Amino acid sequence: MNHRDFEVFGAFDAEYLLFPPFVAASDAIERLLMQFRLTGMVENLLLTGESGTGKTTLCRTILQKYPKQVNVDRDVIPVLFAPIPPAATIGGAAEQMLLRLGDPAPTKGTTSAKTARAVRLARGCSVEMLLFDEANHIQDRGRSPTQYHVGDWLKALTDELQIPCVLLGLPRVEALLRVNEQLRRRFTRQIRMELGQDPDVAVETECLQLFNSLAHALPIRFDPGNMSWSELGQRVRFGTDGRVAFFKVLLSQALRFGMANSLDVLTVSDLEEAFTAAIWPQGVGALNPFHQSFDFRRLDRTGEPFERGALGAGRR
Ligand SMILES: Nc1ncnc2c1ncn2[C@@H]1O[C@H](COP(=O)(O)OP(=O)(O)O)[C@@H](O)[C@H]1O
Ligand SMILES: [Mg+2]
Repeated sequence: MNHRDFEVFGAFDAEYLLFPPFVAASDAIERLLMQFRLTGMVENLLLTGESGTGKTTLCRTILQKYPKQVNVDRDVIPVLFAPIPPAATIGGAAEQMLLRLGDPAPTKGTTSAKTARAVRLARGCSVEMLLFDEANHIQDRGRSPTQYHVGDWLKALTDELQIPCVLLGLPRVEALLRVNEQLRRRFTRQIRMELGQDPDVAVETECLQLFNSLAHALPIRFDPGNMSWSELGQRVRFGTDGRVAFFKVLLSQALRFGMANSLDVLTVSDLEEAFTAAIWPQGVGALNPFHQSFDFRRLDRTGEPFERGALGAGRR
């Protein structure tokens, strides 16, 4: 790839779109913040979605909108973003908070000392909202007792700080709430970042809209040929599992082919090749959503790319 090609890919990768579940989740987060600012009322939110549905990107857009302000006397951090590291303990979660609050020695002290320091610093920086990303990491390795502890810690933290808290993570993070009743009562608001939640719009239609918006951002035109848009919508749905990350992987790969071969137009057969190359090497024939003999079913069985909770290919 030459320099210009890198620029084209960079621009396409940075493209971000306001598709319905992304907007709904973003609005819900902002509503909690506004409600808190206007009334002091504290509500929390659990936001779940499979990997690649745009949760971390959403946090980034919220942070851009409510950025940290560096002042002479102190930093103001309206929204505190804390990604939970893999296999985290409670101490690890507190450390992430400390790190982002500018604590000079985030790993120092016992868990309760770290937590107390995080609370103090968060107050000092006028934090108005907590975003815990990858919340599933807190309980991934936990047997129930660990989950109780984490739940109790979160409960104590949010009670102490009295600011809205958003937990983001894979759908299995719901289990964290299941084992802790008190926490469950604090996170009654729950949103799934998934296409297909609007009862009036077919999921295929939403997939097609997202596909077309992204395809329009490509420097090479996409042409579905003889295929109807509704059939394309269904194929795109199965080829991406409705996750924005896979739409991008698929189209980036098709673009790469197109540029390498100086094509004027991209077609469904380029998507077929792109699916095998970038999403699933075994995805050929009936297992390739863009092949004419495709089965029209979800590719979520064991070993398939969209197996629930699996580390899908093309994932960041
Ligand atoms: N709103 C969006 N518009 C376009 N692309 C997006 C959007 N949100 C996410 N993406 C793409 O999907 C990829 C995965 O998103 P990410 O936010 O990391 O998902 P998650 O945190 O749910 O696993 C990102 O690298 C980005 O390229
Ligand atoms: Mg993420």
